[in-house]
Amino acid sequence: MADFDLIVIGAGPGGYVCAIRAAQLGLNVACVEGRETLGGTCLNVGCIPSKALLHATHSLHEAEHNFEKMGLKVAKPKVDWEAMQAYKGDVIGGNTKGIEFLFKKNKVTWLKGWASIVAPGKVKVGDDLHQARNIVIATGSEPSTLPGVTIDEEVVVSSTGALSLPKPPKSMVVIGAGVIGLEMGSVYARLGADVTVIEYLDAITPGMDGEVAKSLQKILQKQGLTFKLGAAVQSVERGKKGATVHYKLRKDESAHEIEAEVVLVATGRKPYTVGLGLDGLGVEMLPRGQVKADMHFATNIPGIYAIGDAIVGPMLAHKAEDEGMAVAEIIAGKHGHVNYDVIPGVIYTTPEVASVGKTEEQLKEAGVAYKVGKFSFMGNARAKAVFQGEGFVKMLADKATDRILGCHIIGPGAGDLIHEVCVAMEFGAAAQDLALTCHAHPTYSEAVREAALACGDGAIHA
Ligand code: NAI
Repeated sequence: MADFDLIVIGAGPGGYVCAIRAAQLGLNVACVEGRETLGGTCLNVGCIPSKALLHATHSLHEAEHNFEKMGLKVAKPKVDWEAMQAYKGDVIGGNTKGIEFLFKKNKVTWLKGWASIVAPGKVKVGDDLHQARNIVIATGSEPSTLPGVTIDEEVVVSSTGALSLPKPPKSMVVIGAGVIGLEMGSVYARLGADVTVIEYLDAITPGMDGEVAKSLQKILQKQGLTFKLGAAVQSVERGKKGATVHYKLRKDESAHEIEAEVVLVATGRKPYTVGLGLDGLGVEMLPRGQVKADMHFATNIPGIYAIGDAIVGPMLAHKAEDEGMAVAEIIAGKHGHVNYDVIPGVIYTTPEVASVGKTEEQLKEAGVAYKVGKFSFMGNARAKAVFQGEGFVKMLADKATDRILGCHIIGPGAGDLIHEVCVAMEFGAAAQDLALTCHAHPTYSEAVREAALACGDGAIHA
């Protein structure tokens, strides 16, 4: 029986980061992973492959729509789907092998197989029993579906199936206007599919700043996506060629249907803890299937911790990574901590959308006196030069103290720009701190500074 200080179950962004950090802190660590490759959903069938397809199809869009404007004359681009899939595979392979290398470098033992916890401190992988003073559950999540909708990963697909369709469909219905729906809907719209997104709520991307959500919807509509909002999907029926989606408009209960070659179900994900044996151990669970963990990621069973999508909070790779590092530090006797007030969220559409901190709606509801500094990318020379003048930066600051409370960006490079604001918020900065910081010209980042200036005496280029 092998003996470890820590066994991490799951090698997604939460688990592998936890394992590496714990090893760096001197612990003898093993990480159990049943997939053929490390990296979990994010690297194998999530964040990374979807970004490869988003990049490839964005490049296609550029070639089709913007090359001529820049004096570039090329033949009409053709899509070789197999080659695009191979590119996606290379991107995945490069990253998953990278983690294998990091495991070796940090002397983390990869236990290959599916784990179950047979008793506190005892983990079974296949026929082998291993022992550890500490166990971290980092088993992530899986797609959830709706009553009346069966995912077959052929015609009715989850995000996993949507990444590996045999060919780009001519028509696609996306159920759910959340992050997955909009990212994958964008991919297939750019590849020529007629994409209709059906969303239960009256706005896309629930929880996002309302102004940004409206702007994103308008831009995506211009890109060819159709939205049916306030529409509850009732069932999906497979036909000979594709499927029929039945939905009801919530305002008048009227019934409608729409046919498509492929239906993508993107209505959220649920924690994945199947086969771990948590019931038998008496690990407390929450009603929505998450493992109950305290602020130090400890479950009710001593020595068993949980992080990432398996516990409460936004189902984001970087949230899981931060929790992985924090729990490793706690187990090593240090003071791991995650600041849940400063966790950015990014949607990798074109333009990108990024946000951190409070939305205007949340501030209103909390009765906080705030001010808004807004700056359009139309006033940003760099964005205009690359045909990305759509969108804006919206900075929210405390009316009395000027402290930054939130920031919401829709525009070029938003997913990178947001981190300037994250750092500022971690340091408790005021909008004026950003406004008085010299920003290189010409960069997209200047738009962030201008929004900060707009919280004070005014933006220059507005
Ligand atoms: P989501 O929670 O972001 O969106 C699901 C959408 O489906 C919601 O807008 C919801 O109102 C809608 N919906 C639910 N039931 C419906 C019904 N019966 N009819 C019509 N619409 C319905 O979930 P999504 O997009 O599946 O993503 C899952 C998780 O993965 C999320 O937590 C997301 O944050 C994460 N993710 C993050 C990415 C990123 O950070 N870029 C990329 C992909 C996923």
